[in-house]
Amino acid sequence: MKIIMLGAPGAGKGTQAKRIAEKFNIPHISTGDIFRANIKNGTELGKEAKKYMDEGQLVPDELTVRLLLDRVKNDDCKNGYVLDGFPRTIPQAEVLDRELEKLGEKVDYAVDVDVPDENIINRMSGRRACLKCGATYHLQYLKPKKDGICDSCGSELVLRDDDKPETVKKRLTVYHEQTQPLIDYYTKSRVLHTVDGTVDPDDVFKAIEEILR
Ligand code: AP5
Repeated sequence: MKIIMLGAPGAGKGTQAKRIAEKFNIPHISTGDIFRANIKNGTELGKEAKKYMDEGQLVPDELTVRLLLDRVKNDDCKNGYVLDGFPRTIPQAEVLDRELEKLGEKVDYAVDVDVPDENIINRMSGRRACLKCGATYHLQYLKPKKDGICDSCGSELVLRDDDKPETVKKRLTVYHEQTQPLIDYYTKSRVLHTVDGTVDPDDVFKAIEEILR
């Protein structure tokens, strides 16, 4: 099963993708997490990606596409995967479709987690992220068991550099310009499903389970 998560920054793609991955025993692949791990480890890719991410811009397609295509060739992707944050542009979606077609495969579901812009800024300022394992929490809606500490791996939780309100506004603009056209793209290929992302995370997941069942 190959699933794509769509939605604005902070819509809850990562939160839901982790649950899908656990439930269906497939890997959760987040291009944002891969870039953040590279930034943390000081790799060349990380240094390059950071320039764009700190500005709220997309990392160029040529860096992102190769990284993603290499990742989905791994053995753990044989039974499918859930992509979180990829594709983010029409050219990225086209490359993915072409590569899957060569293997006689296709995207099975594109799940759009729909949250209006006005809810996003509040969500992002309350988000706390674990840069080690990628887990995310919220000061109000999804608290860790111990303040400031990741439940999964015990690392310190931080406010992501790109979650400052000015950067979030930029990311929303970029989302509407470059990523939202994917809604039409996947509607045309008849795999698009939209869920209301403003309700409780458990209820968002129930709606997604109904779609994937
Ligand atoms: P990425 O890490 O993918 O960021 P994003 O898409 O902007 O999404 P987020 O991770 O910010 O949010 P999310 O939708 O996963 O929400 P979450 O579940 O955390 O990308 C970062 C950057 O990397 C990009 O800006 C770009 O520069 C670069 N990049 C990545 N992929 C790329 C690509 N393919 N091409 C080019 N560049 C790329 O939830 C948000 C918060 O809300 C959390 O605190 C959570 O606990 C809370 N929450 C979740 N659900 C709910 C709910 N139902 N109710 C209340 N709170 C909730």
